[in-house]
Amino acid sequence: VVLVVDFGAQYAQLIARRVREARVYSEIVPSTMPVDEMLAKNPRAIILSGGPSSVYAEGAPSLDRSLFEAGVPVFGMCYGFQLMATTLGGTVDDNGAREYGRTPLHVTKAGSTLFEGTPTEQPVWMSHGDACSAAPEGFTVTASTDVVPVAAFENDEKKLYGVQYHPEVLHSTHGQQVLEHFLYRGAGIEPNWTTTNVVEEQVALIREQVGDKRAICGLSGGVDSAVAAALVQKAIGSQLTCVYVDHGLMRKGETEQVEKDFVAATGAKLKVVDAEKRFLDALAGVSDPEEKRKIIGREFIRVFEQAQLEILQEEGPEVAFLVQGTLYPDVVESGGGTGTANIKSHHNVGGLPDDIEFQLVEPLRQLFKDEVRMVGQELGLPEEIVQRQPFPGPGLGIRIVGEVTKDRLDLLRDADAIAREELTAAGLDRDIWQCPVVLLADVRSVGVQGDGRTYGHPIVLRPVSSEDAMTADWSRLPYETLAKISTRITNEVADVNRVVLDVTSKPPGTIEWE
Ligand code: XMP
Repeated sequence: VVLVVDFGAQYAQLIARRVREARVYSEIVPSTMPVDEMLAKNPRAIILSGGPSSVYAEGAPSLDRSLFEAGVPVFGMCYGFQLMATTLGGTVDDNGAREYGRTPLHVTKAGSTLFEGTPTEQPVWMSHGDACSAAPEGFTVTASTDVVPVAAFENDEKKLYGVQYHPEVLHSTHGQQVLEHFLYRGAGIEPNWTTTNVVEEQVALIREQVGDKRAICGLSGGVDSAVAAALVQKAIGSQLTCVYVDHGLMRKGETEQVEKDFVAATGAKLKVVDAEKRFLDALAGVSDPEEKRKIIGREFIRVFEQAQLEILQEEGPEVAFLVQGTLYPDVVESGGGTGTANIKSHHNVGGLPDDIEFQLVEPLRQLFKDEVRMVGQELGLPEEIVQRQPFPGPGLGIRIVGEVTKDRLDLLRDADAIAREELTAAGLDRDIWQCPVVLLADVRSVGVQGDGRTYGHPIVLRPVSSEDAMTADWSRLPYETLAKISTRITNEVADVNRVVLDVTSKPPGTIEWE
């Protein structure tokens, strides 16, 4: 494993993904983790991420010097670079040498471990206030910029490397190459982390964890639960029963897709539970998003417990495990494994009630979304499932701003189906990451239709492009497509007299409205 030490910016996840793109397994750890603990994980290499602080700011995260003396190769980036410099006796000062954004880098030692084979002039992405003016003893300066004399250094003997810029962002055009040089040349790691290995490893782990017990898996119709279920099915076959809870918060046609496509592809046992009334009763009168998520998470577990009892009665042996398609970003965003704040309590991580009776099997806990799709492909799941846009566990329940009712759900389902149909017809499915369609149920606006005044609700279109849902930009959809969606929704969906487009990136807006 390669550890990415998170100094509190959004960069750590991106770095971890880039390391995996280099076919090397990586994990994020918080910078507050004691060095002993980091070393106990037997890392093949350690990467220090960027971060928002100045190394001289009060309370700025630091690192024990022993990290650099353990013989493990270390690569510091941005804040990590400055920390490495100051910890080992170099000089970093706040001399006004700020650089933000695209900056030309001058490679001064072409044959260096990191820069070998890359151009002597290359654009890099900078974001720093302080700057390094002298490298620590024993280090060679390998690059500079017009304002910063020490923009990269290395100590090949001790396997310590650093760059002032962010090699993980695409604007640093040779960043991936530099990172790979560190991993392969600096740290001597073989690139052999592949989806085939992931499948084999997870299958073995699942067999070990579950033994001869039984497991149930909640299917949501989405990629994550489908891939998780297919993995567990591969591992334990008929010991798994998939349960699909029709909570009434699904989109049009989704139940049929699970019943037909998924079962055909995996041969898994499927039990469909109609729980619409139960969920709607529990959600009655509730408008607060976090409360909705908690209720939906809680009801989910209750329904599974009920399903477990029924399966017990039908089949005998105890059901002890619950399979969930929790992904790495969910784990990190819910505060598991890093010091990152709890942004939303994702229903499959933070919202579980305390009295849960299952043990969790989460075979995708280490994976990013694109990796999950690759694993799904490896497992032979059909394109329609593997390439499906993400859809949140709480479903349309968090796409109705206001109280969730059956009428509102039906209305939103119709609008959503139209938007999806038109996006597909326009060939845009691959360009957008997902397009939540949101009903502002508590908002009304005046319109005119035919000869009459209307007083209806707005529908919000939220098409975004993204690599991993951690950050996103609003998609620039063609006007014709937007016009078509708008005309159809206002004509075909009663009570909707306005369609609006969300033009907010993430951050500051999240992808979902609630
Ligand atoms: P946000 O709204 O946080 O969404 O920018 C990021 C991604 O996560 C999905 N999402 C969820 N998925 N349970 C899930 O399984 C949830 O509670 C949940 N909330 C948001 C969202 O659709 C987007 O892909």
